[in-house]
Amino acid sequence: MTLWHGRFGGTPSSELLAYTQSLSFDKRLAHDDVTCSKAHVKGLGVAKIITEEEVQLLLATLEEVETELGSGEFRFEYSDEDIHTAIERRVTELAGDPGAKLHTGRSRNDQVATDLRLFAKRELASVCARILDFQRLLFGLAESAEDVYLPGYTHLQKAQPVLLSHYFLAHGWALARDFDRLVETITRLDVSPLGAGALGGSSLPLDPDFVSRELGFARRFDNSLDAVSDRDFVAEALFDLALLGVHLSRIGEELVLWSTEEFGYLRLDDAYSTGSSMLPQKKNPDIAELARGKSGRVIGSLTGFLTTLKGLPLSYNRDLQEDKEPLFDSLDQISLGISSLSGLLSSSGFDFSKMRRAADSPYLCAIDLAEWLVAKGVPFRKAHAIIGGLVRDSLERHVDLGELVEAHPQLGSEAAELLMPGVSVERRQTLGGSGIEAVKVQLDSFHALVSREEDVLESLVQR
Ligand code: ARG
Repeated sequence: MTLWHGRFGGTPSSELLAYTQSLSFDKRLAHDDVTCSKAHVKGLGVAKIITEEEVQLLLATLEEVETELGSGEFRFEYSDEDIHTAIERRVTELAGDPGAKLHTGRSRNDQVATDLRLFAKRELASVCARILDFQRLLFGLAESAEDVYLPGYTHLQKAQPVLLSHYFLAHGWALARDFDRLVETITRLDVSPLGAGALGGSSLPLDPDFVSRELGFARRFDNSLDAVSDRDFVAEALFDLALLGVHLSRIGEELVLWSTEEFGYLRLDDAYSTGSSMLPQKKNPDIAELARGKSGRVIGSLTGFLTTLKGLPLSYNRDLQEDKEPLFDSLDQISLGISSLSGLLSSSGFDFSKMRRAADSPYLCAIDLAEWLVAKGVPFRKAHAIIGGLVRDSLERHVDLGELVEAHPQLGSEAAELLMPGVSVERRQTLGGSGIEAVKVQLDSFHALVSREEDVLESLVQR
């Protein structure tokens, strides 16, 4: 039996049921749907629309249904088009007439919007928790890298020696912005749509503020048309997850490069790499590649859903049912991606001496030579040209750059010292830059950031 059987003479076709059902994926909202219904039942009680006995019976029945759902005992029926229908049907089977009062003053339109906000609040906070774990890992790796340096790249060409700790923290700061964005999204979505009804509210004396408080929302909706049709929070969450996915993708790309024989900075652990079905010698970084690959699908979910939204008139349209799968999938892929990349990073062996050797080319210190001349009063553009000329000379005549520096009248042996291994990162001074002292300061700031995020997360979970 459908929820609308009174109005209809015939029964729904099998095509309609197959095409319009959402039960196969919105089962995931079962817990939030029960929570939403409990608040609604209490609201009906407070408004004296149902009696106190009916309130108690319905609350107990909802608990029973949730237990059945949790244990797998719950029997879904062919005609249950979504989780809301299934739960209401079962409550009515168990509680009889009072069960048939559950949906008083409510529509699936405000119900599904409420369920999805409850779900998103919790699940986005758990992505924040994963980000925080990942940042703690990056911090630990950065601390243990001490004064190890490797080539920093621009255009994927070796540019300057940078500290490995600086590298790890760079990804940590990008993740901090993801954390922030998710927290802001959670704050903005913390609004209860319950009480908006199908689109215009109800003639019954319901109190949307009461159910909003019951559900732990920060406040209730202001406009019922907006409340049932607003899915901005889903679009925002999808963007936050897509950009987080892009960050994971870029980390993945780096790990793919670093684990090649050509770079050789990283040795993959057996548990976090795969072999080849044909080539016996292979060890492949599939996790890192999928972190890169799956970001495409998460971006696709964002653009797909924005496209779904863009043509919708007010208020609820069935198109909105398309909000759930992209959100669920993006949450799953990103959550798995963070934990897999964390596992990959924490189990990998880093070849510090290979990194140092790769950065010990004197050409990577060319800017240090130019800046040494600047300190002696040479205008930078002239200093750049002098050192550029020496580099060209060294490459063309196959003469060591150090020898040319020693022999140069404006440079000499003091300047040649700058080309010694490790000197570049020792001398670099700028705050926020990749010098040994500056990175110590940065480690402290990052540590403080992590503690701030811990507090924010705690307050999110308590909400
Ligand atoms: N399964 C639907 C969804 O996810 C529930 C709302 C259905 N509302 C309606 N008026 N048909 O959007």
